[in-house]
Amino acid sequence: MPFGNTAIVILGASGDLAQRKLIPALNLIHGRLDGEGSFVVIGSGRTAFTDTAFRRRFDISPEFSKRLFYHRGIPGLKDFIAEKGSFDRVVFFMALPPKVYGSTAGELAAVGFGSEATLIIEKPFGSDLESAMKLDRELSGHFNESQIFRIDHYLAKEAVQNILVFRFANALFYPVWNSRYIESIQINAFETEGIGERAGYFDQAGIVRDMVQNHLMQLLCLITMEAPVSLDAEEIRAQKISVLKAVEIHDCARWQYEGYREEKGVAPGSTTETYAMLKLSINNFRWAGMPVYIRTGKALDRRGTEIGARFKRLPKLLFNRDGTIPPNRAIFKIQPAEGIIIDLATKIPGAGIDIATTNMAFCYRDSFAQEIPEAYQRLLLDAIKGDRTLFVSAEETEMSWRKLEPFLDAGEVRTYRRGKPPAPEWEVDWIDFDMYKDICG
Ligand code: BG6
Repeated sequence: MPFGNTAIVILGASGDLAQRKLIPALNLIHGRLDGEGSFVVIGSGRTAFTDTAFRRRFDISPEFSKRLFYHRGIPGLKDFIAEKGSFDRVVFFMALPPKVYGSTAGELAAVGFGSEATLIIEKPFGSDLESAMKLDRELSGHFNESQIFRIDHYLAKEAVQNILVFRFANALFYPVWNSRYIESIQINAFETEGIGERAGYFDQAGIVRDMVQNHLMQLLCLITMEAPVSLDAEEIRAQKISVLKAVEIHDCARWQYEGYREEKGVAPGSTTETYAMLKLSINNFRWAGMPVYIRTGKALDRRGTEIGARFKRLPKLLFNRDGTIPPNRAIFKIQPAEGIIIDLATKIPGAGIDIATTNMAFCYRDSFAQEIPEAYQRLLLDAIKGDRTLFVSAEETEMSWRKLEPFLDAGEVRTYRRGKPPAPEWEVDWIDFDMYKDICG
């Protein structure tokens, strides 16, 4: 869909998200429009602002400022938009508490928004299967699924988008990307920060709902899905759903960092987990028998999101008679640095045959000069253009909840010291991701 002439309405415009992410991203998009189309942005919220007072809140270009307006509440919004021009579509960004997504969709429909509307919503999409299904029912009571854009900001990360390119644009890796050659896949998302000021949300959620159900299950899909027949969003979603259907979660161990219960806003005696480790398998022909491990947590010793594929060991033959050559590994560094690293066993120069593990690395910062766009810039632009590839469908969300449901809040929660990740739960050949910490920066 071309960019066209669009009205973008930020519902909850006096909040933090609009201030920190949305308006700055729209300011950048506006600066780079290049005659492709045009848009106005209308902030809406409960607070009363004049256009001028609203504009003054942001550090934006004078040209963009002229296209920024404010309207209080939803009643009268349709006429307000019509006064600003005639638009091919109206994109609503719900920067609102999730519990009002459904009722707000109802209000928008009640004041006459219909097929011209796009609704962008942020996670959490429910807190379990039942609440997710309820939300989907509420939204679909007023708008079609094709109008609903669920954000998973991990999908907009450049290195995440590169996963499918690496897998399906390189003949080299395609044939070995299965459980015959790969021994395990390990996905990490580690953060150094604790929960900060977010207890109101996080204490009800926990890391499994906060990170695994959405971001990490999406990473899992991208790293293991079959090739879609085209790059059409629906074809990609269909393949992701096939993976999710085949996922079987075997175990989920949970921990909480010491001092969590003393964080502002956390319920006394809270058993919300801040670290989780999951073991799962994907019961399809490509992956049967191969374990996948997911680890994620807050208040850890390092920040890093990465995926590692650990290949099977060589037979004890030739150079590996004593079994000391480590298995090959392919590492996808997603953040803070972006890159792909492949281990290789190589002869150490000189007499005799001594073998060392070296690696080949593709690092974004060395290969590409252009800056990596911020997730919201990409997501807003795609939503304006109607491209759903980087957004998550109701079916994906529900399937992911379905699989995790038995493990939500289940079992004991142990503790770990801040900056000290819990010891690995199972006897596993974990990839030592520290080995790659200096590669790509
Ligand atoms: C959010 C979670 O979705 O993702 C946060 O709610 C988490 O708890 C954040 O910190 C991590 O995002 P990123 O892009 O910093 O990895």
